Amino acid sequence: MTRPIYFTTPIYYVNDAPHIGHTYTTVVTDVLARFHRMRGRDVRFLTGSDEHGQKIERAAAARGLEPLALADEMVARYRALWSALGIAPDDFIRTTEPRHRKGVEALYAKIKARGDIYKDRYAGWYCTSCESFYPENQVVDGRCPDQGHKVEWTEEESYFFRLSKYQEPLLNLYRERPDFVFPETRRNEVVAFVAAGLKDLSISRSSFRWGLPFPDDPKHVLYVWFDALSNYITALGYGAPKAPLYERYWPGIHLVGKDILRFHAVYWPAFLLAAGEPPPRQIVAHGWWLRDAAKISKSKGGVVDPLPFIRDFGADALRYVLLREMVFGQDASFSDEAFVDRVNTDLANDLGNLASRTLKMIEDYRGGVLPAPSDGAGDAALVEAARAAWDGLVEGFESYALQSGLQRVSDLVGALNRHIVQHEPWKMARDPGQARGLDDLLYAVAEGLRIAAVLLAPVIPTAAQTLYAAVGGDGEVSAVSLAAFHWGGLRPGARIVRGPSLFPRIDKAAFLGSAAVNEQRMETTDKGKDPVPAPAITPAAPSAAAPPPAAGPAEITIDDFTKIELRTAKVLEAERVAGADRLLKLTVDIGTEKRTIVAGIAARYAPDALVGRTVVVVANLKPAKLRGVVSQGMLLAASDASGAPYILTTEDPGVPAGWRVK
Ligand code: MSP
Repeated sequence: MTRPIYFTTPIYYVNDAPHIGHTYTTVVTDVLARFHRMRGRDVRFLTGSDEHGQKIERAAAARGLEPLALADEMVARYRALWSALGIAPDDFIRTTEPRHRKGVEALYAKIKARGDIYKDRYAGWYCTSCESFYPENQVVDGRCPDQGHKVEWTEEESYFFRLSKYQEPLLNLYRERPDFVFPETRRNEVVAFVAAGLKDLSISRSSFRWGLPFPDDPKHVLYVWFDALSNYITALGYGAPKAPLYERYWPGIHLVGKDILRFHAVYWPAFLLAAGEPPPRQIVAHGWWLRDAAKISKSKGGVVDPLPFIRDFGADALRYVLLREMVFGQDASFSDEAFVDRVNTDLANDLGNLASRTLKMIEDYRGGVLPAPSDGAGDAALVEAARAAWDGLVEGFESYALQSGLQRVSDLVGALNRHIVQHEPWKMARDPGQARGLDDLLYAVAEGLRIAAVLLAPVIPTAAQTLYAAVGGDGEVSAVSLAAFHWGGLRPGARIVRGPSLFPRIDKAAFLGSAAVNEQRMETTDKGKDPVPAPAITPAAPSAAAPPPAAGPAEITIDDFTKIELRTAKVLEAERVAGADRLLKLTVDIGTEKRTIVAGIAARYAPDALVGRTVVVVANLKPAKLRGVVSQGMLLAASDASGAPYILTTEDPGVPAGWRVK
């Protein structure tokens, strides 16, 4: 067994709600944690919240709140987002917790015992947005060099850490461990920064109160980055008389955005070296999500809210797109259009359609039972494609090449689709002489899909499990080992499970045109305003919330209501209506007869996904012609602000057709 792996995300500031940038780091870390677990490793995954400092104090004041009340509110939103994304870290640390303070004090005491702390005066520029000090020569037009925020002149008594003493030890560290900072371009930046000389670092502030009390001097609070960086070890119990988690998991791998690389690759290892503790195992920096070429940020605007994407298309779709659209390490642009195209191409068309056509063929040609292949070795070309996908994904994910790893799985899906087209199984099915060939084909494609599900499990855990079970896989897909490639994992004779389509195709025109939703997604916080002195804060209501109900139609009596005959119905057939993107033509059984119903639900439902489901229809509605088809009733669906439909169905899917609904 290889040594345990400890992955961390940055701990996020609680001045405002999470956006797509924070989402990205956390999704990537979750994907890596899942991947390494499937590789058989002992993994720990930490995230949390950074709650002290001037930025939070000011944000809270602007809302008339105590800092801790603001933190509580934002932590709830972060936690809710992680859970909506299927992210379950092993621990979530808040810097306002007593266990954190204890650990920070222990770290400080060790550094002090080495003689690396002294008292002096600080006079210089401070950027509250970055919570960072900048020397005179780095400030450009009154703004910080990193992100262009306004800086403030600060003069105060301060305690200093002898960072300058660690210039050589740090350079040695980078030299001895070339992958300490990844990717290499970032490593080079860090080396250049340190080689240019390090000044001692002010690690206390005395001009505001919201922070951990400075251990030696209650007039000061501890500099927020000293406080924050320590979370990576305080969450492991550092400073307690016994810290088995620290023994087992430290040093860890820190996933960070490039904006906070210096803090992680320079200050943090220096603090640890000073304390005589091992420096981190690796600092892995990714690029920025941009909107209109500017960094998406709470203080600069262009904020993209992840919640509407999750609500409308599911966590898996967002997780996949984030990984697939960004070359790890580089910047990328987030656009709604690219989101839709990626979901429709990779997930709905290629993977989703392959899965539904394969399952339908097994159902139609083999009664829903997976046939035994005539030769266990399988079709050589397909086995090769599966092996290449496996090796490609594993190699990619082992080295943070997430995008190219996923591309290898798309290649496998493409090969499986081409295999079907080339061999025309629908023709084989009509020829009894080709029965064994058809068995081979069905088994091979199902097995290829199983392998795709296993490889995609870290990225799209829910859909991967559905797909894996659908083709007859046993147990949990996440329990399958990614240690070694193995063809033939499916058991002949297994029953396939045909359910709703994995990823319904998104109606692009409807989606991009839904101004209300896009407005919410594009919602900016303090765009155009300077974040200093007081960042503006958006209202607490999640932007995913439905608009307030408008004044409705006039009151009706129960007699009026009973005039409407609502019945349960079973969908027997479903197809698209030519020339109408939003419409599906359904044949439903309403208990007493079959009816044709045209429903505007194609934006969220693929026809296949509806067959067999129980829906609710208005059975006594006057027939009406829609796009040339006579609709003999109406299907009930709820719709969100964008008009996206959510069909009404019964709690127990076994409710038969024809029951009265009231
Ligand atoms: N609290 C500090 C981190 C302390 S870690 C000891 C902080 N918090 S933050 O809320 O501003 O989050 C910063 C992190 O969020 C970035 O490092 C990055 O991981 C992520 N992102 C924030 N905006 C981003 C983009 N526009 N694009 C990609 N990731 C970005 O800094």
